[in-house]
Amino acid sequence: MAFPDFGAVLAPADLPVPAPGPGEVLVRVHASSVNGFDLGVLGGVFQGMFAYDFPVVLGKDFSGTVEEAGDGVTSLAPGDEVFGVVMRPSLGQGGFAEYVVVSEQYGLAKLPGGLGHARAGALGLAGTAALNAVEAVAPAPGETVLISGATGGVGAFAVQLAAALGARVIATARPGAEAAFVTGLGAAWAVDPADLEARVRAVAPDGVDAALHLAGDGAAVTALLTGGGRLASTLHYSPERDVKATAVMADPNPATLARLAADAVAGRLRVPVSRTYPLAEAAQAVADFTAGTVGKLAITI
Ligand SMILES: NC(=O)c1ccc[n+]([C@@H]2O[C@H](COP(=O)([O-])OP(=O)(O)OC[C@H]3O[C@@H](n4cnc5c(N)ncnc54)[C@H](OP(=O)(O)O)[C@@H]3O)[C@@H](O)[C@H]2O)c1
Repeated sequence: MAFPDFGAVLAPADLPVPAPGPGEVLVRVHASSVNGFDLGVLGGVFQGMFAYDFPVVLGKDFSGTVEEAGDGVTSLAPGDEVFGVVMRPSLGQGGFAEYVVVSEQYGLAKLPGGLGHARAGALGLAGTAALNAVEAVAPAPGETVLISGATGGVGAFAVQLAAALGARVIATARPGAEAAFVTGLGAAWAVDPADLEARVRAVAPDGVDAALHLAGDGAAVTALLTGGGRLASTLHYSPERDVKATAVMADPNPATLARLAADAVAGRLRVPVSRTYPLAEAAQAVADFTAGTVGKLAITI
């Protein structure tokens, strides 16, 4: 599923199977998922940051089987099951395809038994961003952590990871099914983002110890922190007040991916796939993601 130029729509494309270079592996992809990053790629917002090698295939996440190992690859062989995040220097290859070439060293980990491609394909980027964001604010047991954007892919993982550390998680979610979704993942409270300040103050009158800004107004989220509180923003919101702020740049190193996979296998981390689409319907998955979703939208190839 590729788009041939800026402004073009995502459509099936018949592309040659890419060849792995030194230190790279060719992966036969079995599963992927939609991330906010994909919308940015499609919308051309990364012009100037990354080269676009058209036609550009979408999909940061991948899970699949090594088909061929390039020169110098030592840790992987054909038949190995792997998953991770496509971290190529330019935009061109992606996980919404039958094949992708990725580095052996970075953005990849072996698929542990018991995880399965469907879950692994929805874990890489959102799980990594969530873990990096939670580690940036390092909540202590009993501390309050506001998660703005808790209903999305990153948020759904972050709620679970923060709650597992003993934090009291305040998660944004509309009343009803969204609120049930975040409390089911371990949030202590669901707060309607349409009335954020009043809802958060109702449960944390003096403000929250830490906040993850994954969606919404960064200034409004930051205003709810106590003095000296910690903020992590995947949207790179930069506050002007007295808080410790981290701009999260997801770092899918092998150790992080292996940690997430182990948590998922052990049942400590749910991969919250709300709908799965075949590759031929990837454009619909992207449209549905754009319109608003809860959890992850998975793609099977
Ligand atoms: N810097 C990095 O390395 C990095 C890595 C991963 C992700 N990101 C970014 O982080 C953000 C989250 O990623 P994602 O994949 O989790 O996206 P997502 O699945 O679209 O999640 C965003 C969630 O926030 C909700 N939301 C929208 N407006 C809100 C508001 N005002 N208050 C509270 N919640 C609101 C959305 O609900 P509706 O769908 O109903 O609107 C959605 O459930 C994206 O912008 C993504 O690009 C950055």
